[in-house]
Amino acid sequence: MGFLLLSSWFLIVLVLQILFVQNLAADSLLKTHGLISKNRYVSAIGDPGMKSANVRVALEAWNFCNEVGFEAPGMGSPRLADCADLFCSSLITDSLGCSRLDTGRKCEVHHKVNGSDNSLKTGDKFPAEGFQSFRNPDLFAAEKERYLASLCEVQGCAKRWYFWMFMLKNGNFDKNKTLCPENGKNVSKIITGRNFPCFGEGCMNQPLVYHNYSRLVCSGRQASLTGGFNGTYDLDADLSRGIGNNSFFSVSWKKNLSTGSWIFSHTLTTSAKYPWLMLYLRSDAVEGFNGGYHYSGRGIMTKLPESPNFKVKLTLDVKRGGGPNSQFYLLDIGSCWKNNGKLCDGDTLTDVTRYSEMIINPATTSWCRPDNLVSCPPYHVSPTGEIIYRNDTSRFPYSAYHLYCCPGNAEHLEKPYDICDPYSNPQAQELVQILPHPEWAVHGYPEKQGDGWVGDARTWVLDAGALSNRLYFYQDPGTERARRVWTSLNVGTEIYGSQNGETAEWTVSDFDVLVPKGDTYDSAY
Ligand SMILES: *[C@@H]1O[C@H](CO)[C@@H](O)[C@H](O)[C@H]1NC(C)=O
Ligand SMILES: *[C@@H]1O[C@H](CO)[C@@H](O)[C@H](O)[C@H]1NC(C)=O
Ligand SMILES: *[C@@H]1O[C@H](CO)[C@@H](O)[C@H](O)[C@H]1NC(C)=O
Ligand SMILES: *[C@@H]1O[C@H](CO)[C@@H](O)[C@H](O)[C@H]1NC(C)=O
Ligand SMILES: *[C@@H]1O[C@H](CO)[C@@H](O)[C@H](O)[C@H]1NC(C)=O
Ligand SMILES: *[C@@H]1O[C@H](CO)[C@@H](O)[C@H](O)[C@H]1NC(C)=O
Ligand SMILES: *[C@@H]1O[C@H](CO)[C@@H](O)[C@H](O)[C@H]1NC(C)=O
Ligand SMILES: *[C@@H]1O[C@H](CO)[C@@H](O)[C@H](O)[C@H]1NC(C)=O
Repeated sequence: MGFLLLSSWFLIVLVLQILFVQNLAADSLLKTHGLISKNRYVSAIGDPGMKSANVRVALEAWNFCNEVGFEAPGMGSPRLADCADLFCSSLITDSLGCSRLDTGRKCEVHHKVNGSDNSLKTGDKFPAEGFQSFRNPDLFAAEKERYLASLCEVQGCAKRWYFWMFMLKNGNFDKNKTLCPENGKNVSKIITGRNFPCFGEGCMNQPLVYHNYSRLVCSGRQASLTGGFNGTYDLDADLSRGIGNNSFFSVSWKKNLSTGSWIFSHTLTTSAKYPWLMLYLRSDAVEGFNGGYHYSGRGIMTKLPESPNFKVKLTLDVKRGGGPNSQFYLLDIGSCWKNNGKLCDGDTLTDVTRYSEMIINPATTSWCRPDNLVSCPPYHVSPTGEIIYRNDTSRFPYSAYHLYCCPGNAEHLEKPYDICDPYSNPQAQELVQILPHPEWAVHGYPEKQGDGWVGDARTWVLDAGALSNRLYFYQDPGTERARRVWTSLNVGTEIYGSQNGETAEWTVSDFDVLVPKGDTYDSAY
């Protein structure tokens, strides 16, 4: 098990490419940027450029190690979905897929997921064949995600797909409990000098979540859908009386009526009890593992992007930054491979989650410095492929890195090194966190601090494939280099160690993932 088995999709993929050649929205934009010639790339996601008139979104909430632990009282398992089709009584739709209401046609919303589906909780029986109930909240949530996906499934021209995923994570960690493994190993006691936020008993709780099911909105002659989720981690909060000093999150979706793209709006506020929270929009593999998650999940990427050949397009408008410790990721890409370069197989002792993240908050400084090599990768690869060691102080681009840390299960590390936090993932992890810099700007990424930040909304075409191909990732000496196939592409923020409630607010639209036409990733998967 692991990544998708795509070889059998070869023929279908060809059909998809032919069908998509005409309407690949990103083509014209890419052409004007002179990056790639027309028709060489195709979309890798079920909802290219977020243009679908129908809603396919889900929400997942994770504890410190990406599990559930305990459900919030009265809330069910923290997996919810909003999947709704817009139906108008005519076959002719305009470019938005919406009907023109002035001609007397009627539009309706058809929901695929109802309240009883969304409120399923650990131990409940699923109302469909083929889904197994579990008493373990972690296993139940993974099964619920697959059940909700079965209701949302879209049969595309090629592979089926499910939904965009909003991921919410609580960074509290209770060291008196053993809810999280250490580098994937079960431990009977947590012994560490590291400090984590936790206000006391129950600090790793799941959130209260409220849901506005997608509803029809009419604007002039166009019909479209809108809806949202909001909530808080503060279980005693009464949000109907305002947010107060509580933690808060909200995600909502509506259409940009001029472009046809979804506008996904996000808000995240920390509180005294929840000083470390994360909220991302994820484009995950349709099936199989995805970054940081070790159960078979459900997502939207029908083809998996592989370095060095893929691009990510999106419009990002950061309206509020979230304070100095808001690590806003203009792309966090996640994958998994073992230290010997082999694919992950679900064995948490040897699987390693690999992340590369560009942090665009200009308040984020470089921890990698000539006097702090421990936070630098052993070497940097220049755009021309030259290797520059971190001790080459006159040439190493220290300010291109925030920090680098190694997987806790690596056996041949080069000193000095720092091990990544061993508890915040279901298995060992490796992180390469980079900052805006001319070294990365050659791939369409921000060039300097402040680019793309508050007041500088932009549409980006990121050559994430070329960039991620240049990054250092640990492998055991003498092993064949891993194929860098990315199962999760995320945008959002991680606000940590906030002293007071901090709020970040942003929108994402036009998201697309582009992969080379004809590349089917079939050989190893
Ligand atoms: C909700 O949907 C499920 C499956 O789609 C169905 O079994 C159930 O009866 C529905 N519940 C209600 C209250 O409509
Ligand atoms: C840790 O414990 C869980 C639950 O008992 C079990 O499913 C898992 O396989 C164990 N992991 C390892 C690495 O032993
Ligand atoms: C963990 O245990 C210590 C010692 O008993 C106690 O002081 C601390 O408050 C506990 N922490 C939590 C989060 O319960
Ligand atoms: C639901 O919609 C109302 C009206 O637009 C809004 O005030 C509220 O915040 C929304 N709630 C959620 C959960 O999105
Ligand atoms: C969150 O959603 C609930 C339910 O729709 C709504 O009553 C509340 O006003 C919303 N809260 C905020 C702060 O938007
Ligand atoms: C929020 O906290 C501030 C500072 O502690 C306090 O002055 C204020 O009254 C609190 N607001 C609410 C709504 O509780
Ligand atoms: C819709 O998209 C256009 C073109 O990108 C942009 O100028 C406009 O601000 C967007 N509208 C909204 C409501 O975001
Ligand atoms: C710099 O690091 C490389 C690789 O670790 C090592 O071979 C070289 O000797 C080091 N150079 C100096 C001057 O320390």
